[in-house]
Amino acid sequence: MTMQAVEVEIEDDVPDTVFKITKATLKAAELSVIVPTFNERDNIKAVIAAVADALPNIAWEIIFVDDNSSDGTASFVREIARIDPRVRCLHRFGRRGLSSACVEGIMSTASPIVAVMDADRQHDERALFRMFEILNTTDADIVVGSRYAKGGGVGDWDRSRAAMSRIATRIANWITGTSLSDPMSGFFMIRREVFFRALPRLSSIGFKILLDISASSDSRLKVVDIPYRFRLRQHGASKLDSMVLWEFVLLILDKTIGRYIPTRFISFALIGGSGVLVHIAVLTLLFKIIGIAFTDAEIAATFTAITTNFLLNNALTYRDQRLNGIKLLAGWVSFTLVCATGAVANVGIANWMFANNSMWLTSALAGIAVGVVWNYAMSSIFTWKTE
Ligand code: GDD
Ligand code: MN
Repeated sequence: MTMQAVEVEIEDDVPDTVFKITKATLKAAELSVIVPTFNERDNIKAVIAAVADALPNIAWEIIFVDDNSSDGTASFVREIARIDPRVRCLHRFGRRGLSSACVEGIMSTASPIVAVMDADRQHDERALFRMFEILNTTDADIVVGSRYAKGGGVGDWDRSRAAMSRIATRIANWITGTSLSDPMSGFFMIRREVFFRALPRLSSIGFKILLDISASSDSRLKVVDIPYRFRLRQHGASKLDSMVLWEFVLLILDKTIGRYIPTRFISFALIGGSGVLVHIAVLTLLFKIIGIAFTDAEIAATFTAITTNFLLNNALTYRDQRLNGIKLLAGWVSFTLVCATGAVANVGIANWMFANNSMWLTSALAGIAVGVVWNYAMSSIFTWKTE
């Protein structure tokens, strides 16, 4: 994918007065603060007030990117936007995702400098002013609010969460070739042009937008850290769940081998591997322990493994287009049919190879490889219909 710069020509016949009036009455924002929200209604007012306090004499705007929260966050933001033009709402529908919300928020602005910050007051808005100053007076590309730089902190996190975060930090830096003191930070300020240079390679998976941007840049970014203390969430609940870890793994995979193999396929193949374990466990239970006839036990094990594979793929590989209700049932039927034909292809290839070279293990592995690719390709067409 390549990007093209677009030159905007202003037509000659637009009367000059239009520009004069606009210039006199409105000052275009120099800084846009992007705030992703999901059910954050009770935090909106406080975060706007805090940003306003933190940025005197700066023409700022704040853009909430809301994924159609059920608590009415978006309409609440619009109400405020009706009286304060510095406040905007980007209302998304039918999608979820912190990273993609930040990306679209940044793309909706014309400001030369953009910041990303959470709505829940955990990120210290008072750092924004210094961040803006640094970008305006130095050649830094990005300023990161860091919990791990000297003077920063994670507040009263329990030990295991702090340790997890440290380990993830190491892995992230090591694998993506970045050297950020807090690569998981969701609080940073960046030049819009630097963001645009990373845009064509962004993965936009999961929660870790800063890591994504720094790993996607064509050149090494000049990063400046601003320490801050991670505060307690003001209202509402965290949206981090067990899915975040999986999305982190996918982001790392996408940033490393994703260039060669699609991340979805990696996820699909890993889950396929788990299916083998399920199969063997069920077979052992039914055949070895309970003593059911081998063929019957084998059939039951196969169906169980197909079903767990289907459910895991639905929850993880295709979490962005998860099937529910009656569609879940239909998906299961089509997935079973896909896997059945995949098994025929698997055995066919293995037999054919074995007949030619009698290397049993190589033949079996080749059969499995063909089966996995078949199942992946066909289920993406028939079970989870990707565009
Ligand atoms: N639009 C949108 N869509 N917003 C979301 C979504 C989503 O799917 N999920 C979460 N958000 C919003 C929340 O409403 C909140 O404003 C912000 O993103 C962060 O979500 P939290 O649930 O508060 O995450 P956290 O506090 O555990 O972690 C945050 O801070 C860490 C430290 O900087 C995140 O920003 C992490 O990525 C970050 O590492
Ligand atoms: Mn939070």
